[in-house]
Amino acid sequence: MKVYFIGAGPGDPELLTIKAKKVLEKAEIVIYAGSLVNPEILDYAPQAEVYNSAGMTLEEVLGKMEEASEKDQTVARVHTGDPSIYGALQEQIDYLKEVGIAYQIIPGVSSFLAAAAAVEREFTLPDVSQTVIVTRLEGRTPVPEKERLHKLAKHNTSLAIFLSVHMISDVVEELKEEYPIKTPIAVVQKASWSDERVVQGQLSNIVEQVKTAEITKTAMILVGDFLDSDYQHSKLYDKNFSHQFRQAEE
Ligand SMILES: C[S@@+](CC[C@H](N)C(=O)[O-])C[C@H]1O[C@@H](n2cnc3c(N)ncnc32)[C@H](O)[C@@H]1O
Repeated sequence: MKVYFIGAGPGDPELLTIKAKKVLEKAEIVIYAGSLVNPEILDYAPQAEVYNSAGMTLEEVLGKMEEASEKDQTVARVHTGDPSIYGALQEQIDYLKEVGIAYQIIPGVSSFLAAAAAVEREFTLPDVSQTVIVTRLEGRTPVPEKERLHKLAKHNTSLAIFLSVHMISDVVEELKEEYPIKTPIAVVQKASWSDERVVQGQLSNIVEQVKTAEITKTAMILVGDFLDSDYQHSKLYDKNFSHQFRQAEE
């Protein structure tokens, strides 16, 4: 018996890993985060007893895992994207460790990566930014003072902002303290789903665009010059540059 924590990916059921699909095919119990996970992935587990954790407490989720453990059943605990990002994963694995229930974590494609794919941009362009900051605005979950958006913004890196589109005006206000007003910004709703939507603009006009598009949830905010700027080509494929696997051309 084992509990498998699965990253279900951002929405498209084909973005599930092969390993995760194999677990779903053998799982006797599936507990999935119904508010965000695409229910189509449940088609991979027609044999399983299915629970939607959206309406459950932590105790209820852990209780189901303990019941399954007593019956020697395999559990797939399905999170959206990758479970390590805003997934409330730690409290579950720490409890299972405490009570001696075996578990394994299977990573998934996080929505900030699907959002970059949707806008067809690379976060880490040479000479533009070599750093991606994954963050959020404070909601009911606090954010440490030293990680306030205007403080992170000082670095002018590529940014992926989760859980904050309903506060887009506050996001822009904080960013404007450090990023030029013409900095490109994109809002990707439901990246990789069939009804994915993308709104692109600059800090100066994105609030209006997001309001007009009525995007208030399940969206990623991407910020930074990586979205639209000149850049140096990578050294890795530069014909004048040698490395471990290739000699520079004469
Ligand atoms: C509780 S967090 C879970 C994140 C998830 N663990 C991940 O790695 O993507 C939920 C937030 O992730 C973002 N999100 C999840 N799926 C998304 C998608 N398909 N497109 C855009 N943003 C998404 C939104 O910001 C949403 O409010």
